[in-house]
Formats: sequence, structure tokens, C-alpha cells
Amino acid sequence: MTKDEELPDVTTAREFYAKYVPKEILGKGVSSCVRRCVHKQSNREYAVKIIDLTDQNNKISEELRSVTHNEINILKEVSGHAHIIELVDVFETDASIFLVFELLRKGELFDYLTKVVKFGEKQTRFTMRSLLEAIAYLHSQNIIHRDLKPENILLDDKLQLHLSDFGFSVRIEDGQYFKDLYGTPGYMSPEMLKCTVDEYHEGYGKEIDMWACGVIMYTLLAGVPPFWHRRQIIMLRRIMEGEYTFPSPDWDDVSESAKDLVVKMLEVDPSRRLTAKQALAHPFFQQVDEAERFCVKPFNARRKFRVAVHTVMSANRISSLASRHRMLKFSSACHDPYSIKSLRRVIDASAFRIYGHWVKKSADQNRAALFENTSRAEQLRLSEIEQAASMLIDGDMVFNSLTPSAGGSLIAQAAS
Ligand SMILES: Nc1ncnc2c1ncn2[C@@H]1O[C@H](COP(=O)(O)OP(=O)(O)O)[C@@H](O)[C@H]1O
Ligand SMILES: [Mg+2]
Repeated sequence: MTKDEELPDVTTAREFYAKYVPKEILGKGVSSCVRRCVHKQSNREYAVKIIDLTDQNNKISEELRSVTHNEINILKEVSGHAHIIELVDVFETDASIFLVFELLRKGELFDYLTKVVKFGEKQTRFTMRSLLEAIAYLHSQNIIHRDLKPENILLDDKLQLHLSDFGFSVRIEDGQYFKDLYGTPGYMSPEMLKCTVDEYHEGYGKEIDMWACGVIMYTLLAGVPPFWHRRQIIMLRRIMEGEYTFPSPDWDDVSESAKDLVVKMLEVDPSRRLTAKQALAHPFFQQVDEAERFCVKPFNARRKFRVAVHTVMSANRISSLASRHRMLKFSSACHDPYSIKSLRRVIDASAFRIYGHWVKKSADQNRAALFENTSRAEQLRLSEIEQAASMLIDGDMVFNSLTPSAGGSLIAQAAS
């Protein structure tokens, strides 16, 4: 058990233990450990974030204490929003602080996304709308989150989103700018990174959260982040230059309005980047509003007529399916399964089950290679055979043995 996994002493944290029973670990952060806990009186379950204020030498960090007080103040200020985590209780001792939150049973959006690999547009719309509503609210209260990422977005039983981890959040006045580097590299905005290399940079504001929203939306739709590179320095350079693409086949089926919203959030110039309110008014969200309005209409004649219209539209769609979709050929399923969308999803999901993490991190890595039907060694042999065969036609080579189908090796010798 590591130091941060140890439960604080019962005698020092008496008040917390009098009210709650701590249970298993749900997650861990840089200086905290989050456990499920049960409220003794009501038997209701919560999550407790235990922040250990001591370092390796048992010295108490007053800086961490004040950062945690800032987190608590902001959490109290934004409490009550449907998409922001609810702080229920706080306990403080000399060496630790306990933050008791509502329990979000489905855990991190990151883990959920890792399991499903990527989201469809409908699910992306559902998730991004809630996230942007939370951000619009924070920004209207002059608060920047500064650490938006799928690990800090938690899901409840109904997969409703709750923004959490306000450890880096800060209040911002109109016209105020910050220069400090906060957050997680892949989600940092160009202007924040530029502050570190340009001492005359004016600083950054609320817009950094919208950049992170762009990174999150891209990642939800593609299953891979937009700027990832195994060498972090290259990734950071790509971020500063806003250098990303919508590669095929991952983006082939994504609508233009979804891509347009991503582009407008991943705008390098913060003054031209969409605000959370503007993003919510983007056509990508209007689409669903129409559909939802249609669904909740009470039963009446007009509704009936609409149902008829939709039925006709659906019938048309079904009849045009054959021309709009490629037929699934057995031969292509055998030789190149990854090129078929439905199989691609199965392959991606299997890749996660086998490797326990995302296999594909960027466009230049090929997840399909793991599932090719012909082993690479055999492919090499086959290409050698083709090469040798062409030389044989020229009369320069002879074959001693050639049984590739049985896995035999090719021996080619120069003709004597
Ligand atoms: N209310 C909660 N319900 C369920 N899991 C939670 C809850 N709060 C935090 N966690 C888990 O604990 C992890 C760390 O919590 P977080 O507040 O992000 O701490 P840190 O500031 O140290 O990153 C989260 O990523 C999540 O997996
Ligand atoms: Mg966190």
C-alpha cells in the first residue's frame, strides 16, 4: 500500500470516522485518493476524496492546504448545477482534508470511452452538450476549470455527466489574464503553452477551457486525441500550431457540422474561438433539439401527421440503403476486415480487451495490423517469392524448395 492509499489515523480524523465508513479505492489523483464511503446513519453511499497534506518526510504542506481550500470554495460556489459534482461534506485535520461527494458509480468518462473506443454523434452530442452547459455556467460565474479532460468528467448511473476535480480552478476578473502552466499536456491550449516560451505573452483567459472541449470532442468522435505524438515535444509543437487532421477512415462517417464545431473550438486564436454559449448554439446541437421536441410532443393529430412524414422518410432511407452502403463481401471480410466499419468497431473493442489500453494512438499506427489474417513473416516470405519469381523469369534464379502455403521456407540460389 502506497502512502496516499493509507487511511488517515482514526484518532486524528475522528469527526469523519464518526459519520462515515471508508471502503474501497475508486480512483487516485496526484495528491489524493478517492474511496467509496457509507454514511453510517442513512446507509447512503458517497465518495470521499482524501487529500494527504504531508510529504515523504511527514512535513505538512500549507500550500496544498490553501489550494484545497480554494477547491472547496469553488465547489461550494458552483454547487447545485446538474452537470457539476456535488460536494456534500468537508472535514479537516492537521494532516489531511476529506471532501465527501455524491457517488458517481459509472466512474470516469475516460474509462467508459476506453471501453467503447469511440462515441457516435448522438452520444457525443449528449455528452458535449452537458459539458458545455457546465462550462458556460462556470464561465458566467467567472471561474476557469483549467483541467478539463475525460478523467475529470464522471458519469452517474444514467451516464449523465458531472464535471469534477476543481483542484486547478481559479476565479478570473474581466480583463484579467494568467500565465501559469496548469493542466494536462494533451489538453493545454496554444496560448497557455506560448506563455512558457514568450515572456511578453499577454497570458490566457477562459478560452483555454474551450480548447480542451475541442480536444475532448475530437477524442470522443475519433477514439484518438488530435495532437498525440509519442514525443511530447512534438505534440506540444503541434498544439501551438493547431496542427491536426480528420483522417480516414475514422472521420469518414462524421458529419460536417460535428467537424465544424471541433474546428471552431480548436481555433488557435483565442479571440476567435467559440465561447461555451456560442458552441451550444452551433447547428450540431440544434439538430437534436428538433428531434427531442418531436419526441416529447403530446399525442395529437399534428403529431400523427409528423409520424407519417417520418415513416415515409424512413422508408425512403431504407430503400436507398443498398445504394448508399457497400455490400459486405466475404472475401474483403477475410482479407481486410478493418476496412469494414462494423467489423472495425469489433476489432477496436477486441483490441482493448486483449491489450487493456488503446492500441491506436495516432493515425500512423495501424490497429488493423494486429488482426491481419496473414502473419507478417508470411507476408514477407510471399513478397520474397514474388520477387524471386520475377527474377526467375529473367533466368537468373532457381528454386530448390517452395511451399509457402505449408509454411515452408523459400530457398533461392543463384543459378550456376
Ligand atoms: N464522486 C466520485 N465518484 C466516483 N469516483 C470518483 C469521484 N470523485 C473522484 N473519483 C475518482 O477519483 C479520481 C481522482 O479524483 P479527482 O477529484 O480527479 O482527484 P485529483 O484532483 O487528485 O485528480 C477520479 O478521476 C475518479 O476516478
Ligand atoms: Mg483528477
